[in-house]
Amino acid sequence: MKPNKFPKKQKPPVKSKEKEALLPKPKTPPAIGLPRGMRDILPADMPYWLRVRAVAESIAEAHGFSHLETPIVELTALFVRGLGKQTDIVEKEMFSFTDQGGDDLVLRPEGTAPVARAYVTHGMFTVPQPVKLFYYGPFFRRERPQSGRSRQFHQGGYEIMGDGKPVIDAELILMCSRFFADLGIPVTVELNSIGDAACREPYKEKLVAYYRAHRNKLCETCKLRLQRNPLRLLDCKEDGCALLRREAPQVVDHLCEDCKAHFMKVIEYLDEADLTYVLAPHLVRGLDYYSRTVFEVYPEIDGDERTAQSALAAGGRYDALIEMLGGRPTPAAGFAVGVERTISALKARNVPVTGPKTKRVFFAQLGEPAKRKAFRLFEELRKAGVPVVANFAKDALKAQMETANAIGAAYTIILGQKEVLDGTVIIRDMEAGIQEIVDEKKLVIELKKKLGIETS
Ligand code: HAM
Repeated sequence: MKPNKFPKKQKPPVKSKEKEALLPKPKTPPAIGLPRGMRDILPADMPYWLRVRAVAESIAEAHGFSHLETPIVELTALFVRGLGKQTDIVEKEMFSFTDQGGDDLVLRPEGTAPVARAYVTHGMFTVPQPVKLFYYGPFFRRERPQSGRSRQFHQGGYEIMGDGKPVIDAELILMCSRFFADLGIPVTVELNSIGDAACREPYKEKLVAYYRAHRNKLCETCKLRLQRNPLRLLDCKEDGCALLRREAPQVVDHLCEDCKAHFMKVIEYLDEADLTYVLAPHLVRGLDYYSRTVFEVYPEIDGDERTAQSALAAGGRYDALIEMLGGRPTPAAGFAVGVERTISALKARNVPVTGPKTKRVFFAQLGEPAKRKAFRLFEELRKAGVPVVANFAKDALKAQMETANAIGAAYTIILGQKEVLDGTVIIRDMEAGIQEIVDEKKLVIELKKKLGIETS
């Protein structure tokens, strides 16, 4: 064999950086966003959330409510039966699904039916009545997201079960109005009575007769409402329908004697308490379980720019619901405040949400042995009731002092190598810029003295 005249040209070695460049580039996956109509609650908003929750809880406590939480997921049947098949929520707004076991489930769209279900499930009729229950948490409605309307929102709710007296309705309306007063939001309470099943039927007939006579002026949805849910005719926001409403028969003129007497009593109690309210003869609410008293609370605004979305809270009596859910006949009433809308109202009015700050102590540590010891001392301080903050992830003193400044710490404890060996700590007065060395055993007592915390 003849030797190859032209030896194969050797390729120069490829450098590793060039090799990298030849490899197919990994694609950055697109960022995953939020589902439509859902929101994150960011740290900057947390003071508002904490304030609203604190006021909601203080009202619950003052009126003797016990806290209850029901599951986020319930059987679909609960809302179909409880709220009514032909309500907006059940017809088009429920996040519903069938799980792997074939159960028809739904993310709870509201809290009253679940609380009524819990009352029946746990036989709460056996304990002294009425039962007063408070809940606070997320709810889900697949609505068109817009200002004041999201698909996950939060409510604080109050339900009183087992008492049909008008004083209960008045107490709830007062609580609701005080909730907003405590937060510094001026509101208007709108009030109506829609009677009970007995007086509502003949009224519905009159209402249908009136609207039928003007059928050609109704919007398409209201034409359907004529047959399916005539009370909701009064709720329509379309111009033509709103105009017709002015002359429509009013439910208060058709109440039976008992319902009328009940409503008058509610009003008397509210007058006695000097609560300002507006009688709203066309207020009917969008859920079928209501009977007698219904109310909605709106932010007080100048002019007439109110929209349906701006109700901050709503409620009423629902005497038939518990029986509809399989319990014994039990009168009940309640209301729920919308947390997001309340927070928007607080922001719109620039209501301050942070009270006077408590003086805090920052714990800074330097070096591994100090970090270990700081863990123990930090816990001792916390247990003793000293408001102490630390950032154990940081090593450099400079970064830790920056955090101390950012949180407005009144004092910073500094624990370094030398202090660990000496059994001491440094306490720095952040405002005066003065430092002192303290025996670590006296740390709790020294700080309590400086912060004016009583020692037991
Ligand atoms: P609701 O009127 O459907 O009543 O809701 C009460 C409040 O929750 C509303 O006034 C509003 O502030 C807020 N809210 C409702 N839907 C949304 C949404 N999509 N986005 C933001 N906020 C919303 C009930 O849920 C009844 N369970 C109230 C009740 C309690 N009745 C008797 N007891």
